[in-house]
Amino acid sequence: MEIIKTIKEMQQKIEQLKKDGQTIGFVPTMGYLHEGHLTLVEEARKKADIVIMSIFVNPLQFGPNEDFDRYPRDIERDERLANQAGVNFLFYPEVREMYKTEMSFHITVKGLADVLCGSNRPGHFDGVAAVLIKLFNIVQPHFAFFGMKDAQQVAVVTSLVEQFNFPIEIVPVPTVREEDGLAKSSRNVYLLEEERKDATVLFQSLQLAKGLIKAGEKNREKIQSEMKRYINQHSSASIDYVEIYTFPDLKPLQSLSGLVLIAGAIRFTNVRLIDNMTIDI
Ligand code: PAJ
Repeated sequence: MEIIKTIKEMQQKIEQLKKDGQTIGFVPTMGYLHEGHLTLVEEARKKADIVIMSIFVNPLQFGPNEDFDRYPRDIERDERLANQAGVNFLFYPEVREMYKTEMSFHITVKGLADVLCGSNRPGHFDGVAAVLIKLFNIVQPHFAFFGMKDAQQVAVVTSLVEQFNFPIEIVPVPTVREEDGLAKSSRNVYLLEEERKDATVLFQSLQLAKGLIKAGEKNREKIQSEMKRYINQHSSASIDYVEIYTFPDLKPLQSLSGLVLIAGAIRFTNVRLIDNMTIDI
């Protein structure tokens, strides 16, 4: 695995790879790798000749009171894991390399960013969109891999490549979970010991909703209030949201049919966790 720290060098490599007729699969991450990220690499290896992973904790997508400074980082461990997983090139630029000058442009994500995490994290998806435009322009991949753990991000990026005409196929990858159902996340390390067990309530509440829907429950409010009741009864977490939307256009449901996204976000002492499920009804 080769580690590349400058945009120029990355672009030169890409040019050569393309001349050689290689297909490129891209896995953008913020590092502190876990099996969720590594599954994206596995899928990328199946579809493309060359796998490029980026590790870049993007300041633009963090709010002023969010965890940019304390976002977990361990580049040596990440290098080892990426290498073992079969990444060919690790693009690892510094902030001042990616943002050489203050950005004069601001991408605003409308509609898709007004719901779910977007309404709780204003500007977050604007920052995600901006960095992905830069990364897609630098790496010019044929395929880019994104986890369904962040379903709203999948919806935003799918619409981004469509509306800005990037010739990139977005490949969504199912969520990787711990044995007890907790979705793997770099932020799980922030859970206090006594909160770790409670943290499964989010996944369990999604399963509860799925069970209700499969049993024929059609009342969205009723399903959401059952989920909230379950979380409140079984944990110390506070609820940011539990919502049910159409996927991938994230419209409020008129009726429970088609591809439905059930999503939730809850807060513990030092961390906010998100999870979701999609169900085809
Ligand atoms: P990060 O949170 O590091 O996640 C990188 C990719 O890994 C995302 O596509 C995310 O959905 C996926 N992922 C995380 N946990 C997963 C899990 N348990 N199962 C499957 N996939 C999982 O998402 C970002 O970084 C950033 O917003 C980024 C896209 C890199 C832009 O800065």
